[in-house]
Amino acid sequence: MRIFSGIRPTGELHIGNYLGAIKQWIELQEKNECIFCVADLHAITTPYEKKELQKNILETSIAYLAAGLDPEKSIIFIQSQVKEHAELAWLLGSIISIGELKRMTQFKEKSKKHPKYINAGLFNYPVLMASDILLYQTEGVPVGKDQEQHVELAREIARRFNQKFGKTLKIPQSLLPKVGAKIMSLQDPKKKMSKTGNTKGCIALFDSPKLIQKKIMSAVTDTGKNIIYNPKRKAGISNLLTIYSLFSGKSINQIEKEFKGKKYSEFKKSLAELIIKSLEAPRKKRKELLNREVYVRKILEQGKRRAELLARSTVQKAKREMGLI
Ligand code: AMP
Ligand code: TRP
Repeated sequence: MRIFSGIRPTGELHIGNYLGAIKQWIELQEKNECIFCVADLHAITTPYEKKELQKNILETSIAYLAAGLDPEKSIIFIQSQVKEHAELAWLLGSIISIGELKRMTQFKEKSKKHPKYINAGLFNYPVLMASDILLYQTEGVPVGKDQEQHVELAREIARRFNQKFGKTLKIPQSLLPKVGAKIMSLQDPKKKMSKTGNTKGCIALFDSPKLIQKKIMSAVTDTGKNIIYNPKRKAGISNLLTIYSLFSGKSINQIEKEFKGKKYSEFKKSLAELIIKSLEAPRKKRKELLNREVYVRKILEQGKRRAELLARSTVQKAKREMGLI
């Protein structure tokens, strides 16, 4: 299968990004043709500092590699370096209505959050994302639950394009993880874990062991005693069980049995140890890569060239079919 996905370089990656998206990418790259970008053109649709963005673009690229993406197996590149993304987005913008874009949940949420920064780019964000996906004739898009609506729109755009102009674009499908599609904040388990907001509720991929321990031990739980999975009644503990399950590979059922009769604090201690151990290798790899910027840039340059070849052919076809000469 041809696979495409990306993450916005808007801050440090967290375990929600890892468990919801990157972990799948690493598994998928073994048997599929995978393409992953650092979605910097998407990052400029919300307020940002220039210096901070530059740092985040490189840091996110390094995080991809540190977490286990292999440039021998996957194409890894920076979105803005392949100009076809912006080009196809313009073409696709003409076949989707304003009404459909207004309905996008993320647009509504981000407009509310940044009322002084509701720019046309933010509004067109899903069209650019459709372009990212459709440029590569993608079949599978591994993302977390919050991006499902955008992938659905990309499908609709592709269908409509094909209907109107002749079969040109592959219809993609989203690949959601069965468990972990939505990791919740440790401080407010009704909200998703996110880069912005409460940093105590969010474990960054490269947090120090000490900090991970502190955040897990102070994670919000209910006043009960039992370690059982019940997202409605016991949102905090259920979220921790999900995280435990994903990092350990054990089923939630199995973990419930293991901790039967044990205290929340014992469970949390064990979870903290598990996360710290699981993230040890990526933490070391990142440290090494931070000192090898030339090598990282070479990988991105090579990724760009490989992505460009594929992207160019779709844009040429799309332009031709649309009647541009
Ligand atoms: P973003 O950080 O919004 O660019 O998201 C990058 C990827 O991580 C997307 O595939 C998201 O669906 C996924 N993701 C973000 N936050 C979470 C979360 N709390 N739980 C699971 N997946 C997430
Ligand atoms: N919009 C996605 C997010 O916020 C990131 C993204 C950009 C993406 N382009 C993509 C994800 C293409 C999947 C496919 O998480």
